[in-house]
Amino acid sequence: MQYFVTANAPSTQETDCIVIAIFEQGELSPSAELINEQSNGYIKKVIDRGDMTAKAGQTLLLQDVAGLTSARLLLVGCGKQDKTTENEFNSAITAATKVLNDCGADDATSCLAEIKVADRSTAWKIRQTVIIAESALYKYDQTKSNVKPAQNPLNKLGFFSQDSSSDLAAQTGHAIAEGMNLARELSNLPGNICTPTYLAEQAVDLGERFATVTTTILEEAEMDALGMGSLLSVSRGSREPAKLITMNYQGAGDERPVVLVGKGLTFDAGGISLKPSQGMDEMKYDMCGSASVFGTIAAIAELNLPINVVGIVPSSENMPDGDANKPGDIVTSMAGKTIEILNTDAEGRLILCDALTYSERFNPAIVIDIATLTGAVIVALGRQATGLMANDQDLADDLLQAGNDSYDRTWQLPLWDDYQPQLDSNFADIANIGGKEAGSVTAACFLARFTEKFTWAHLDIAGTAWNSGKAKGATGRPVPLLVQYLLNRIAAK
Ligand code: BES
Ligand code: MN
Ligand code: ZN
Repeated sequence: MQYFVTANAPSTQETDCIVIAIFEQGELSPSAELINEQSNGYIKKVIDRGDMTAKAGQTLLLQDVAGLTSARLLLVGCGKQDKTTENEFNSAITAATKVLNDCGADDATSCLAEIKVADRSTAWKIRQTVIIAESALYKYDQTKSNVKPAQNPLNKLGFFSQDSSSDLAAQTGHAIAEGMNLARELSNLPGNICTPTYLAEQAVDLGERFATVTTTILEEAEMDALGMGSLLSVSRGSREPAKLITMNYQGAGDERPVVLVGKGLTFDAGGISLKPSQGMDEMKYDMCGSASVFGTIAAIAELNLPINVVGIVPSSENMPDGDANKPGDIVTSMAGKTIEILNTDAEGRLILCDALTYSERFNPAIVIDIATLTGAVIVALGRQATGLMANDQDLADDLLQAGNDSYDRTWQLPLWDDYQPQLDSNFADIANIGGKEAGSVTAACFLARFTEKFTWAHLDIAGTAWNSGKAKGATGRPVPLLVQYLLNRIAAK
Protein backbone atom coordinates (compact mmCIF):
# COMPACT_ATOMS: atom_id res chain seq x y z
CA MET A 1 0.00 0.00 0.00
CA GLN A 2 1.06 3.57 -0.69
CA TYR A 3 0.51 6.37 1.81
CA PHE A 4 0.31 10.12 1.30
CA VAL A 5 -0.68 13.27 3.18
CA THR A 6 -3.09 15.93 1.91
CA ALA A 7 -4.26 19.23 3.36
CA ASN A 8 -7.20 19.64 0.92
CA ALA A 9 -10.68 19.97 2.40
CA PRO A 10 -12.45 16.57 2.57
CA SER A 11 -15.42 17.74 0.50
CA THR A 12 -13.22 18.58 -2.50
CA GLN A 13 -10.98 15.50 -2.31
CA GLU A 14 -10.49 13.61 -5.56
CA THR A 15 -10.60 10.23 -3.88
CA ASP A 16 -12.69 7.04 -4.05
CA CYS A 17 -13.65 7.25 -0.40
CA ILE A 18 -13.53 9.74 2.46
CA VAL A 19 -13.24 8.30 5.96
CA ILE A 20 -14.66 10.32 8.87
CA ALA A 21 -15.11 9.76 12.59
CA ILE A 22 -18.49 9.63 14.34
CA PHE A 23 -18.89 9.54 18.11
CA GLU A 24 -21.45 8.12 20.49
CA GLN A 25 -24.57 10.23 21.19
CA GLY A 26 -24.51 11.39 17.57
CA GLU A 27 -21.52 13.70 17.95
CA LEU A 28 -19.50 14.55 14.85
CA SER A 29 -15.78 15.04 14.27
CA PRO A 30 -14.74 18.35 12.61
CA SER A 31 -14.62 16.78 9.13
CA ALA A 32 -17.93 15.02 9.70
CA GLU A 33 -19.42 18.36 10.76
CA LEU A 34 -18.19 19.96 7.54
CA ILE A 35 -19.51 17.20 5.32
CA ASN A 36 -22.80 17.30 7.21
CA GLU A 37 -23.16 20.98 6.25
CA GLN A 38 -22.08 20.34 2.65
CA SER A 39 -24.70 17.60 2.36
CA ASN A 40 -27.54 19.57 3.94
CA GLY A 41 -27.58 17.63 7.16
CA TYR A 42 -27.50 14.18 5.54
CA ILE A 43 -24.96 12.73 8.01
CA LYS A 44 -27.03 13.83 11.01
CA LYS A 45 -30.14 12.39 9.38
CA VAL A 46 -28.52 8.97 8.92
CA ILE A 47 -27.24 8.97 12.49
CA ASP A 48 -30.56 10.11 13.96
CA ARG A 49 -32.22 7.18 12.22
CA GLY A 50 -30.17 5.07 14.67
CA ASP A 51 -28.04 3.15 12.17
CA MET A 52 -24.80 4.26 13.77
CA THR A 53 -24.27 4.01 17.53
CA ALA A 54 -20.59 4.85 16.91
CA LYS A 55 -19.21 2.14 19.16
CA ALA A 56 -15.50 1.92 18.28
CA GLY A 57 -15.09 -0.21 15.15
CA GLN A 58 -18.66 0.19 13.87
CA THR A 59 -18.73 1.32 10.23
CA LEU A 60 -21.30 2.56 7.73
CA LEU A 61 -20.48 2.99 4.05
CA LEU A 62 -22.53 5.63 2.21
CA GLN A 63 -22.61 6.19 -1.57
CA ASP A 64 -23.03 9.36 -3.65
CA VAL A 65 -23.47 11.77 -0.78
CA ALA A 66 -24.59 15.14 -2.16
CA GLY A 67 -21.98 17.89 -2.04
CA LEU A 68 -18.97 15.53 -2.09
CA THR A 69 -16.55 14.95 -4.98
CA SER A 70 -15.83 11.51 -3.58
CA ALA A 71 -18.23 8.67 -4.54
CA ARG A 72 -18.06 6.98 -1.16
CA LEU A 73 -18.13 8.14 2.41
CA LEU A 74 -17.18 5.81 5.24
CA LEU A 75 -18.46 6.66 8.72
CA VAL A 76 -16.35 5.07 11.45
CA GLY A 77 -17.41 4.80 15.08
CA CYS A 78 -14.71 6.00 17.48
CA GLY A 79 -16.41 5.73 20.88
CA LYS A 80 -17.05 8.76 23.08
CA GLN A 81 -15.89 12.12 21.75
CA ASP A 82 -12.59 13.28 23.28
CA LYS A 83 -12.41 9.96 25.16
CA THR A 84 -11.25 7.63 22.38
CA THR A 85 -8.66 5.22 23.81
CA GLU A 86 -5.71 3.75 21.92
CA ASN A 87 -7.50 0.39 21.77
CA GLU A 88 -10.66 2.01 20.40
CA PHE A 89 -8.62 3.90 17.82
CA ASN A 90 -6.98 0.62 16.77
CA SER A 91 -10.35 -1.14 16.40
CA ALA A 92 -11.69 1.78 14.38
CA ILE A 93 -8.71 1.65 12.01
CA THR A 94 -8.85 -2.14 11.71
CA ALA A 95 -12.56 -2.08 10.84
CA ALA A 96 -12.22 0.85 8.42
CA THR A 97 -9.28 -0.77 6.61
CA LYS A 98 -11.23 -3.98 6.03
CA VAL A 99 -14.22 -2.13 4.61
CA LEU A 100 -11.97 0.00 2.38
CA ASN A 101 -10.17 -3.06 1.06
CA ASP A 102 -13.45 -4.80 0.22
CA CYS A 103 -15.58 -1.92 -1.08
CA GLY A 104 -13.94 -1.45 -4.46
CA ALA A 105 -12.17 1.83 -3.72
CA ASP A 106 -8.68 2.08 -5.20
CA ASP A 107 -7.70 4.94 -2.93
CA ALA A 108 -9.14 6.62 0.15
CA THR A 109 -8.49 9.64 2.37
CA SER A 110 -8.78 9.28 6.12
CA CYS A 111 -9.76 12.16 8.38
CA LEU A 112 -9.43 10.05 11.51
CA ALA A 113 -6.10 11.56 12.61
CA GLU A 114 -7.96 14.73 13.67
CA ILE A 115 -9.77 13.06 16.57
CA LYS A 116 -8.51 13.19 20.13
CA VAL A 117 -6.93 9.90 21.26
CA ALA A 118 -5.68 9.92 24.86
CA ASP A 119 -2.69 12.32 24.76
CA ARG A 120 -1.38 11.15 21.39
CA SER A 121 0.00 13.50 18.72
CA THR A 122 -1.17 13.68 15.12
CA ALA A 123 2.10 12.03 14.06
CA TRP A 124 1.37 9.13 16.44
CA LYS A 125 -2.13 8.67 15.04
CA ILE A 126 -0.88 8.64 11.46
CA ARG A 127 1.96 6.27 12.21
CA GLN A 128 -0.36 3.99 14.16
CA THR A 129 -2.93 4.04 11.35
CA VAL A 130 -0.36 2.75 8.88
CA ILE A 131 0.80 0.03 11.27
CA ILE A 132 -2.73 -1.10 12.13
CA ALA A 133 -3.89 -0.93 8.49
CA GLU A 134 -0.99 -3.11 7.33
CA SER A 135 -1.70 -5.54 10.17
CA ALA A 136 -5.37 -5.71 9.21
CA LEU A 137 -4.44 -6.53 5.62
CA TYR A 138 -1.63 -8.99 6.38
CA LYS A 139 -2.53 -12.45 5.18
CA TYR A 140 -0.31 -15.50 5.32
CA ASP A 141 -0.49 -17.54 2.13
CA GLN A 142 3.05 -18.62 1.33
CA THR A 143 2.29 -22.31 1.82
CA LYS A 144 -1.29 -22.37 0.51
CA SER A 145 -2.17 -23.41 -3.01
CA ASN A 146 -4.97 -21.77 -4.92
CA VAL A 147 -4.68 -18.32 -3.35
CA LYS A 148 -7.09 -15.83 -4.92
CA PRO A 149 -5.91 -12.23 -4.97
CA ALA A 150 -8.35 -9.63 -3.53
CA GLN A 151 -10.82 -8.33 -6.15
CA ASN A 152 -10.29 -4.55 -5.94
CA PRO A 153 -7.92 -4.02 -3.06
CA LEU A 154 -7.18 -0.59 -1.64
CA ASN A 155 -3.90 0.66 -3.10
CA LYS A 156 -3.47 4.16 -1.70
CA LEU A 157 -4.39 5.59 1.66
CA GLY A 158 -4.15 9.34 2.27
CA PHE A 159 -4.23 11.31 5.49
CA PHE A 160 -6.03 14.60 5.82
CA SER A 161 -3.64 16.62 7.97
CA GLN A 162 -2.04 20.04 8.19
CA ASP A 163 0.62 18.86 10.60
CA SER A 164 4.15 19.14 9.17
CA SER A 165 5.31 15.91 10.80
CA SER A 166 2.69 13.85 8.96
CA ASP A 167 4.81 12.71 5.99
CA LEU A 168 7.60 11.41 8.17
CA ALA A 169 5.05 9.74 10.46
CA ALA A 170 3.49 7.86 7.53
CA GLN A 171 6.94 6.83 6.29
CA THR A 172 8.03 5.66 9.72
CA GLY A 173 4.81 3.73 10.17
CA HIS A 174 5.26 2.09 6.80
CA ALA A 175 8.81 0.96 7.57
CA ILE A 176 7.74 -0.42 10.96
CA ALA A 177 4.75 -2.19 9.39
CA GLU A 178 6.94 -3.80 6.73
CA GLY A 179 9.40 -4.87 9.41
CA MET A 180 6.50 -6.43 11.31
CA ASN A 181 5.30 -8.19 8.18
CA LEU A 182 8.77 -9.62 7.58
CA ALA A 183 8.81 -10.83 11.20
CA ARG A 184 5.30 -12.30 10.84
CA GLU A 185 6.10 -14.08 7.63
CA LEU A 186 9.30 -15.69 8.95
CA SER A 187 7.53 -16.65 12.18
CA ASN A 188 4.48 -18.18 10.49
CA LEU A 189 6.57 -20.38 8.20
CA PRO A 190 6.68 -24.00 9.37
CA GLY A 191 9.77 -25.52 10.95
CA ASN A 192 10.48 -27.72 7.94
CA ILE A 193 10.90 -24.64 5.75
CA CYS A 194 12.15 -22.04 8.21
CA THR A 195 15.28 -23.86 9.41
CA PRO A 196 18.47 -22.24 10.74
CA THR A 197 19.85 -22.46 7.19
CA TYR A 198 16.75 -20.68 5.84
CA LEU A 199 17.10 -17.89 8.41
CA ALA A 200 20.76 -17.51 7.46
CA GLU A 201 19.72 -17.15 3.80
CA GLN A 202 17.17 -14.49 4.74
CA ALA A 203 19.90 -12.58 6.56
CA VAL A 204 22.12 -12.77 3.49
CA ASP A 205 19.18 -11.41 1.45
CA LEU A 206 18.82 -8.46 3.84
CA GLY A 207 22.53 -7.76 3.40
CA GLU A 208 22.04 -7.72 -0.36
CA ARG A 209 18.94 -5.52 -0.17
CA PHE A 210 20.59 -2.81 1.92
CA ALA A 211 24.08 -1.43 1.31
CA THR A 212 24.16 -0.46 5.00
CA VAL A 213 23.73 -4.06 6.21
CA THR A 214 26.59 -6.57 6.27
CA THR A 215 25.70 -10.18 7.04
CA THR A 216 28.06 -12.86 8.27
CA ILE A 217 27.18 -16.47 9.07
CA LEU A 218 29.19 -18.66 11.43
CA GLU A 219 28.98 -22.42 10.85
CA GLU A 220 29.17 -25.04 13.60
CA ALA A 221 32.93 -25.59 13.09
CA GLU A 222 33.58 -21.88 13.65
CA MET A 223 31.33 -21.81 16.72
CA ASP A 224 33.23 -24.83 17.99
CA ALA A 225 36.51 -22.97 17.53
CA LEU A 226 35.07 -20.09 19.61
CA GLY A 227 34.17 -22.54 22.38
CA MET A 228 30.38 -22.23 22.09
CA GLY A 229 29.81 -25.55 23.82
CA SER A 230 26.45 -24.53 25.24
CA LEU A 231 24.89 -23.43 21.95
CA LEU A 232 26.29 -26.43 20.08
CA SER A 233 25.01 -28.88 22.71
CA VAL A 234 21.43 -27.90 21.77
CA SER A 235 22.08 -28.26 18.06
CA ARG A 236 23.69 -31.70 18.50
CA GLY A 237 20.23 -33.22 18.94
CA SER A 238 19.10 -32.02 15.51
CA ARG A 239 19.95 -32.90 11.92
CA GLU A 240 19.76 -29.23 10.94
CA PRO A 241 23.11 -27.48 11.36
CA ALA A 242 23.08 -24.49 13.73
CA LYS A 243 23.95 -21.03 12.40
CA LEU A 244 25.16 -17.93 14.16
CA ILE A 245 23.89 -15.03 12.11
CA THR A 246 25.20 -11.47 12.40
CA MET A 247 23.56 -8.55 10.60
CA ASN A 248 25.58 -5.39 11.05
CA TYR A 249 23.68 -2.19 10.25
CA GLN A 250 25.97 0.84 9.99
CA GLY A 251 24.22 4.18 9.99
CA ALA A 252 26.43 6.24 12.31
CA GLY A 253 30.15 5.85 11.60
CA ASP A 254 32.17 4.37 14.43
CA GLU A 255 29.73 4.92 17.31
CA ARG A 256 29.29 1.96 19.68
CA PRO A 257 26.35 -0.16 18.51
CA VAL A 258 23.15 -1.35 20.09
CA VAL A 259 23.27 -5.14 19.86
CA LEU A 260 20.00 -7.04 19.46
CA VAL A 261 20.24 -10.77 20.18
CA GLY A 262 17.21 -12.77 18.96
CA LYS A 263 16.44 -16.35 19.96
CA GLY A 264 16.20 -18.31 16.71
CA LEU A 265 14.93 -21.75 17.78
CA THR A 266 13.26 -22.80 14.54
CA PHE A 267 11.52 -25.67 16.33
CA ASP A 268 11.50 -26.49 20.03
CA ALA A 269 10.35 -30.04 20.68
CA GLY A 270 11.90 -29.83 24.13
CA GLY A 271 14.68 -32.34 23.36
CA ILE A 272 14.89 -35.40 25.62
CA SER A 273 12.71 -33.48 28.12
CA LEU A 274 10.10 -33.77 25.37
CA LYS A 275 7.17 -31.36 25.37
CA PRO A 276 3.58 -32.69 25.45
CA SER A 277 2.14 -33.07 21.94
CA GLN A 278 -0.82 -30.72 22.57
CA GLY A 279 -0.06 -27.46 20.79
CA MET A 280 3.50 -28.45 20.02
CA ASP A 281 3.13 -27.06 16.48
CA GLU A 282 3.30 -23.59 18.03
CA MET A 283 6.92 -24.20 18.91
CA LYS A 284 7.72 -23.25 15.32
CA TYR A 285 7.27 -19.77 16.83
CA ASP A 286 10.30 -20.23 19.05
CA MET A 287 12.24 -18.12 16.57
CA CYS A 288 10.03 -15.03 16.95
CA GLY A 289 12.80 -13.21 18.83
CA SER A 290 15.07 -13.59 15.83
CA ALA A 291 12.21 -12.60 13.50
CA SER A 292 11.85 -9.34 15.44
CA VAL A 293 15.56 -8.67 14.94
CA PHE A 294 15.19 -9.22 11.19
CA GLY A 295 12.14 -6.92 11.12
CA THR A 296 13.87 -4.21 13.16
CA ILE A 297 17.02 -4.25 11.02
CA ALA A 298 14.88 -4.05 7.85
CA ALA A 299 12.87 -1.13 9.26
CA ILE A 300 15.84 0.94 10.38
CA ALA A 301 17.72 0.25 7.14
CA GLU A 302 14.64 1.35 5.19
CA LEU A 303 14.54 4.57 7.26
CA ASN A 304 18.31 5.04 7.07
CA LEU A 305 18.43 5.78 10.78
CA PRO A 306 21.64 7.40 12.06
CA ILE A 307 22.60 4.68 14.52
CA ASN A 308 24.66 1.47 14.56
CA VAL A 309 22.81 -1.75 15.31
CA VAL A 310 24.16 -5.29 15.29
CA GLY A 311 21.60 -8.08 15.07
CA ILE A 312 22.83 -11.45 16.34
CA VAL A 313 20.75 -14.58 15.84
CA PRO A 314 21.79 -17.90 17.32
CA SER A 315 19.69 -20.39 15.39
CA SER A 316 19.11 -24.08 16.05
CA GLU A 317 16.44 -26.73 16.49
CA ASN A 318 15.84 -28.48 19.83
CA MET A 319 15.06 -32.12 19.08
CA PRO A 320 15.28 -35.50 20.84
CA ASP A 321 17.97 -37.68 19.29
CA GLY A 322 20.59 -40.24 20.26
CA ASP A 323 23.13 -37.43 20.34
CA ALA A 324 20.90 -34.88 22.10
CA ASN A 325 21.58 -33.30 25.49
CA LYS A 326 20.45 -35.50 28.40
CA PRO A 327 19.28 -34.26 31.79
CA GLY A 328 22.36 -34.14 34.00
CA ASP A 329 24.77 -33.43 31.14
CA ILE A 330 27.31 -30.71 31.78
CA VAL A 331 28.50 -28.41 29.01
CA THR A 332 31.03 -25.57 28.92
CA SER A 333 29.91 -22.20 27.60
CA MET A 334 32.02 -19.77 25.57
CA ALA A 335 32.43 -17.69 28.74
CA GLY A 336 34.06 -20.72 30.38
CA LYS A 337 31.23 -21.30 32.86
CA THR A 338 30.03 -24.89 33.15
CA ILE A 339 26.28 -25.55 32.97
CA GLU A 340 24.36 -28.53 34.32
CA ILE A 341 21.44 -29.21 31.96
CA LEU A 342 18.69 -30.38 34.28
CA ASN A 343 15.97 -29.86 31.67
CA THR A 344 16.77 -29.97 27.96
CA ASP A 345 13.66 -27.89 27.29
CA ALA A 346 15.33 -24.87 28.87
CA GLU A 347 17.39 -24.60 25.68
CA GLY A 348 16.81 -20.93 24.84
CA ARG A 349 19.14 -19.73 27.58
CA LEU A 350 21.73 -22.30 26.43
CA ILE A 351 21.97 -20.82 22.95
CA LEU A 352 21.55 -17.23 24.12
CA CYS A 353 24.35 -17.31 26.70
CA ASP A 354 26.96 -18.01 24.02
CA ALA A 355 25.46 -15.43 21.66
CA LEU A 356 25.54 -12.86 24.50
CA THR A 357 29.20 -13.62 25.19
CA TYR A 358 29.86 -13.32 21.45
CA SER A 359 28.23 -9.86 21.44
CA GLU A 360 31.09 -8.52 23.60
CA ARG A 361 33.32 -8.33 20.52
CA PHE A 362 31.17 -5.54 19.09
CA ASN A 363 31.96 -3.29 22.05
CA PRO A 364 28.23 -2.67 22.55
CA ALA A 365 26.74 0.45 24.13
CA ILE A 366 23.64 -1.63 24.95
CA VAL A 367 22.66 -5.27 24.49
CA ILE A 368 19.01 -6.31 24.30
CA ASP A 369 17.99 -9.92 23.87
CA ILE A 370 14.55 -10.83 22.59
CA ALA A 371 13.34 -14.36 23.25
CA THR A 372 10.30 -16.61 23.54
CA LEU A 373 12.01 -17.81 26.67
CA THR A 374 9.44 -19.00 29.21
CA GLY A 375 5.85 -20.20 29.38
CA ALA A 376 5.89 -18.63 32.85
CA VAL A 377 5.85 -15.10 31.43
CA ILE A 378 2.42 -15.87 29.92
CA VAL A 379 1.18 -16.87 33.38
CA ALA A 380 2.58 -13.66 34.86
CA LEU A 381 1.66 -11.09 32.20
CA GLY A 382 -0.69 -12.75 29.73
CA ARG A 383 -0.56 -11.85 26.05
CA GLN A 384 -0.72 -8.09 26.61
CA ALA A 385 2.73 -7.20 27.87
CA THR A 386 6.23 -8.32 27.00
CA GLY A 387 8.29 -9.25 30.07
CA LEU A 388 11.24 -6.96 30.73
CA MET A 389 14.26 -7.54 32.96
CA ALA A 390 17.48 -5.55 32.97
CA ASN A 391 20.76 -5.11 34.80
CA ASP A 392 20.43 -1.32 34.43
CA GLN A 393 17.36 0.69 35.48
CA ASP A 394 17.95 3.52 32.98
CA LEU A 395 17.79 1.02 30.15
CA ALA A 396 14.68 -0.60 31.65
CA ASP A 397 13.04 2.84 31.91
CA ASP A 398 13.93 3.60 28.28
CA LEU A 399 12.31 0.36 27.15
CA LEU A 400 9.20 0.95 29.28
CA GLN A 401 8.97 4.42 27.71
CA ALA A 402 9.45 3.08 24.17
CA GLY A 403 6.73 0.53 24.90
CA ASN A 404 4.30 3.26 25.93
CA ASP A 405 5.27 5.50 23.00
CA SER A 406 4.75 2.75 20.43
CA TYR A 407 1.85 1.14 22.31
CA ASP A 408 3.80 -2.15 22.05
CA ARG A 409 4.09 -2.35 25.77
CA THR A 410 6.38 -4.11 28.19
CA TRP A 411 6.31 -4.59 31.96
CA GLN A 412 9.26 -5.01 34.27
CA LEU A 413 9.91 -8.00 36.52
CA PRO A 414 12.62 -8.04 39.22
CA LEU A 415 16.09 -9.32 38.45
CA TRP A 416 17.23 -9.41 42.05
CA ASP A 417 20.20 -11.44 43.24
CA ASP A 418 17.77 -13.00 45.72
CA TYR A 419 16.67 -15.36 42.95
CA GLN A 420 20.18 -16.45 41.92
CA PRO A 421 20.50 -19.34 44.47
CA GLN A 422 17.68 -21.14 42.62
CA LEU A 423 20.24 -21.78 39.87
CA ASP A 424 22.80 -23.44 42.16
CA SER A 425 24.14 -26.78 40.92
CA ASN A 426 25.98 -29.48 42.89
CA PHE A 427 27.98 -30.41 39.82
CA ALA A 428 28.53 -27.32 37.67
CA ASP A 429 28.89 -23.54 37.97
CA ILE A 430 25.20 -23.07 37.25
CA ALA A 431 22.07 -25.13 36.54
CA ASN A 432 19.92 -24.35 33.52
CA ILE A 433 16.64 -24.33 35.47
CA GLY A 434 15.62 -22.69 38.74
CA GLY A 435 12.62 -24.67 39.93
CA LYS A 436 8.94 -23.96 39.49
CA GLU A 437 8.77 -20.54 41.14
CA ALA A 438 9.46 -17.29 39.23
CA GLY A 439 10.40 -19.15 36.04
CA SER A 440 10.76 -16.02 33.92
CA VAL A 441 12.95 -14.32 36.51
CA THR A 442 15.27 -17.29 36.99
CA ALA A 443 15.61 -17.64 33.20
CA ALA A 444 16.74 -14.01 33.10
CA CYS A 445 18.99 -14.62 36.12
CA PHE A 446 20.70 -17.34 34.10
CA LEU A 447 21.34 -14.89 31.25
CA ALA A 448 22.48 -12.24 33.74
CA ARG A 449 25.49 -14.44 34.57
CA PHE A 450 26.68 -13.91 30.99
CA THR A 451 26.01 -10.18 30.68
CA GLU A 452 28.05 -8.76 33.56
CA LYS A 453 30.37 -6.88 31.20
CA PHE A 454 27.73 -4.69 29.53
CA THR A 455 24.44 -2.84 29.93
CA TRP A 456 21.75 -5.35 29.11
CA ALA A 457 18.01 -5.92 28.98
CA HIS A 458 16.01 -9.05 28.29
CA LEU A 459 12.60 -9.08 26.60
CA ASP A 460 10.58 -12.27 27.14
CA ILE A 461 8.09 -12.29 24.27
CA ALA A 462 6.61 -15.78 24.80
CA GLY A 463 3.18 -14.21 25.40
CA THR A 464 3.23 -11.42 22.84
CA ALA A 465 4.91 -12.77 19.70
CA TRP A 466 1.99 -14.82 18.44
CA ASN A 467 -1.70 -15.54 18.95
CA SER A 468 -3.05 -19.04 19.57
CA GLY A 469 -6.46 -20.51 18.77
CA LYS A 470 -8.63 -19.53 15.82
CA ALA A 471 -6.55 -16.43 15.08
CA LYS A 472 -3.27 -18.36 15.32
CA GLY A 473 -0.53 -16.28 13.78
CA ALA A 474 2.49 -14.14 14.52
CA THR A 475 1.92 -10.56 15.73
CA GLY A 476 5.13 -8.89 14.53
CA ARG A 477 5.83 -7.75 18.09
CA PRO A 478 8.10 -6.35 19.44
CA VAL A 479 9.31 -4.67 16.23
CA PRO A 480 7.42 -1.42 17.06
CA LEU A 481 8.94 -1.35 20.56
CA LEU A 482 12.49 -1.94 19.30
CA VAL A 483 12.31 0.62 16.48
CA GLN A 484 10.81 3.14 18.92
CA TYR A 485 13.61 2.50 21.39
CA LEU A 486 16.17 3.21 18.66
CA LEU A 487 14.28 6.33 17.48
CA ASN A 488 14.16 7.66 21.06
CA ARG A 489 17.85 6.92 21.46
CA ILE A 490 18.64 8.90 18.31
CA ALA A 491 16.42 11.78 19.44
CA ALA A 492 18.26 11.90 22.79
CA LYS A 493 21.72 12.14 21.17
N1 BES B 1 10.31 -21.97 24.00
C1 BES B 1 9.98 -22.35 25.33
C2 BES B 1 9.14 -21.29 26.06
C3 BES B 1 7.70 -21.22 25.67
C4 BES B 1 6.80 -22.16 26.13
C5 BES B 1 7.24 -20.18 24.93
C6 BES B 1 5.47 -22.06 25.81
C7 BES B 1 5.89 -20.07 24.60
C8 BES B 1 5.00 -21.01 25.04
C9 BES B 1 11.25 -22.57 26.13
O1 BES B 1 12.30 -23.12 25.42
C10 BES B 1 10.89 -23.54 27.20
O2 BES B 1 10.59 -24.66 26.87
N2 BES B 1 10.91 -23.10 28.44
C11 BES B 1 10.53 -23.92 29.52
C12 BES B 1 11.51 -23.67 30.65
C13 BES B 1 11.40 -24.66 31.77
C14 BES B 1 11.85 -26.02 31.29
C15 BES B 1 12.26 -24.19 32.91
C16 BES B 1 9.11 -23.55 29.94
O3 BES B 1 8.76 -22.36 29.92
O4 BES B 1 8.35 -24.46 30.24
MN1 MN C 1 12.18 -25.22 25.36
ZN1 ZN D 1 12.36 -22.71 23.44
